[in-house]
Amino acid sequence: MNSRFPKNFLWGASSSAFQIEGAWDEDAKGMTVADYNSFQRSAIQADSKVASDFYHHWKEDIALMKELGMQIYRFSLSWARMIPDGDGAVNPAGIAFYRQVIDELLDNGIEPVVTLYHFDLPYALVEKYNGWEDRRCVRAFERYARLCFETFGDKVKYWQAINEQNLMIRVNERMNIRETDAWKADKIRAQMDYHMFLAHALAVSACHEMVKGGKIGPAVSASCTYPLTNKPQDIWAARMNDCMKAVYCLDMHYYGEYPGYYMRYLKERGIVPAMREADQEILKAGRMDYIALNYYRTLCASFLPADPGHPAGMRVFRTNEVDFDQYGCCRDEKNENLKASEYGAQIDPMGLRLVLNDYYSRYRLPMMITENGLGSPDVLTGDGKVHDSYRIDYLREHLNACAEALEDGVELIGYSPWSFLDLLSSHQGFRKRYGLVYVNREDMDLKDMKRIKKDSFYWYQKVIRTNGEDW
Ligand code: BG6
Repeated sequence: MNSRFPKNFLWGASSSAFQIEGAWDEDAKGMTVADYNSFQRSAIQADSKVASDFYHHWKEDIALMKELGMQIYRFSLSWARMIPDGDGAVNPAGIAFYRQVIDELLDNGIEPVVTLYHFDLPYALVEKYNGWEDRRCVRAFERYARLCFETFGDKVKYWQAINEQNLMIRVNERMNIRETDAWKADKIRAQMDYHMFLAHALAVSACHEMVKGGKIGPAVSASCTYPLTNKPQDIWAARMNDCMKAVYCLDMHYYGEYPGYYMRYLKERGIVPAMREADQEILKAGRMDYIALNYYRTLCASFLPADPGHPAGMRVFRTNEVDFDQYGCCRDEKNENLKASEYGAQIDPMGLRLVLNDYYSRYRLPMMITENGLGSPDVLTGDGKVHDSYRIDYLREHLNACAEALEDGVELIGYSPWSFLDLLSSHQGFRKRYGLVYVNREDMDLKDMKRIKKDSFYWYQKVIRTNGEDW
């Protein structure tokens, strides 16, 4: 049997700093927005203080990555570990930690794929500037990015500047938006979003200047929305949902300007951000090289005409609830044709083939899947095993969608599921697990933190070994 994956296809697995590292204030690391938010829930679930304790288990974890056969490892650096207060002194211990991780990966034949910022803005920048609302945060990010390129640029080729800006911006908590008036909150949000685009573009240009052969792009939370019916309004609602949730972002990273419908939204809502003329050049120069794509599920939408309760022109930025566009709004619907995970995500491998084709036809850029996986409450059996056949089914079906997309002509260069090991899920702590490797802890009981290979680990090991021939 011939593999449906190219010979040089990159197989890996993913994680992010605050979700695995722990050691939240060890060796001078500063607090982050992600830490702050997780501490708000400390009384009811796990927080980022220990997480999966990668900070103290990295050697053992990398040995497991090698055993799995991983060729890439997608993870993030913690900005506040490198520069505790965001824009002040550099922390040598932070650099030393990531240096040893990167070296250990390379010594084990695993290529590091690095995200600079995964939901964990240094909290000091919130205190100083209200974070991304202030332009000084843009320069702070550029400085941090340059530090990373200078320090690790000879060892890391694939970079992602920001993880899921398109999703993060809609979640007040992740942006530290405390404003309760909806319009004022949207105004702040639009300014923050714009500043992040600028920061992204500056990081792209810095990478091109400093990292020989470096490739950098955004990690986007893919959005694929089906219309509930074939009514043209429902089709419009579904399409606009994807445009307002993901495509306008990709357009910014590619063309360096907002698409027309997005500018129209900003104007009608009265929230056009402050921009400087010179920004144009920065945005256009910072074109992404590839798209890192995070995909979990699809959505389904119907059109709701505008009414006084939700006036036309207004849009609520929330992930799964009601989204508004200029012509009314789009209501989140259940898709009766799809089964859902225990946590309500509609499982849809075909949707992955659809977004891969859609994004490829829009930008003709290589893509790498940097997140895809099933969150589930796994059970450790008496004999110390985790039989997660549901995860194997999920991954197998999504890999099949990748193979289809490759055959459709999409330039897919790698697959790195979420996640390598169990980690801190924002709303479900360690109750919802994604890992190929089980971490023996519960939300309120650290147990022994032992690493246990799940059935999906052995299955994926075979997939990698056979370059996707045997799954
Ligand atoms: C992605 C994030 O949006 O979804 C990850 O990049 C996150 O950080 C993943 O863990 C799954 O979401 P959750 O809420 O189930 O942890």
